[in-house]
Amino acid sequence: MSSALPEQQTWSAEGYDRNARFVSDLGAQILSWLAPRAGERILDLGCGDGALTARIAASGADVVGVDVSEALLAAARARGLDVRNGEATALPFENEFDAVFSNAVLHWVREPALAASGIRRALKRGGRFVAEFGGHGNVAAVVTALRAAADRFGGRADLTAPWFYPTAAEYRVLLEGAGLDVRRIELVARPTPLPTGIEGWLRTFRQPFFDQFGPERRGEVLAWVVALLKPALCDTAGQWTADYVRLRVEAVAA
Ligand code: BEZ
Repeated sequence: MSSALPEQQTWSAEGYDRNARFVSDLGAQILSWLAPRAGERILDLGCGDGALTARIAASGADVVGVDVSEALLAAARARGLDVRNGEATALPFENEFDAVFSNAVLHWVREPALAASGIRRALKRGGRFVAEFGGHGNVAAVVTALRAAADRFGGRADLTAPWFYPTAAEYRVLLEGAGLDVRRIELVARPTPLPTGIEGWLRTFRQPFFDQFGPERRGEVLAWVVALLKPALCDTAGQWTADYVRLRVEAVAA
């Protein structure tokens, strides 16, 4: 999403490919929960650059992707996919899809009840919602280090962790309130190796936090956060592993 506001997350297709390709590579498990079939109409909510959308399309399903980032949508269009710009909280679809799928996106959505009601509306009765995203305790070490940095360097606490990480119980209640019957839901630790270390992760996913310190100080703050996290997340061989916790859910439109 491109924006003039410094506190907003922005995406670059090239940066995402370099630092975060593992996000779609690790989508195999939740894709297996979706089990797309030829002829189904499926919405990929937060399709990004379309890596998983293309895998769903390869099953013979008719897939539509939605995302807020024009940069990532351009990369998805280059794969020949039908993708549109749109917010998870303002889905324009009604009674249209056999399934709504979402991987590693819903933790960015600050009004999850609005997203859930739009998902329910987009589904045909009996259609399924299958999603994976960060759950309670996700990247807890990283969040704590950012809070410590905000405290030490006088940064804004609200820029440390703008994410929604519910427990399974909390999310079940939220979905059922939107008319989605939960069939299975699990919260699982999934330690995730980072190909470009924690610095690549922080630059890709939390740049607005560092930008608030301006060009003179942001490098210093980033180096301080990396040093604080090193004993917890970097092994003796130099491999960084993030403390990911995934919430996986399958629910059906009542
Ligand atoms: C996640 O996939 O858990 C995640 C990615 C970026 C920022 C925060 C969480």
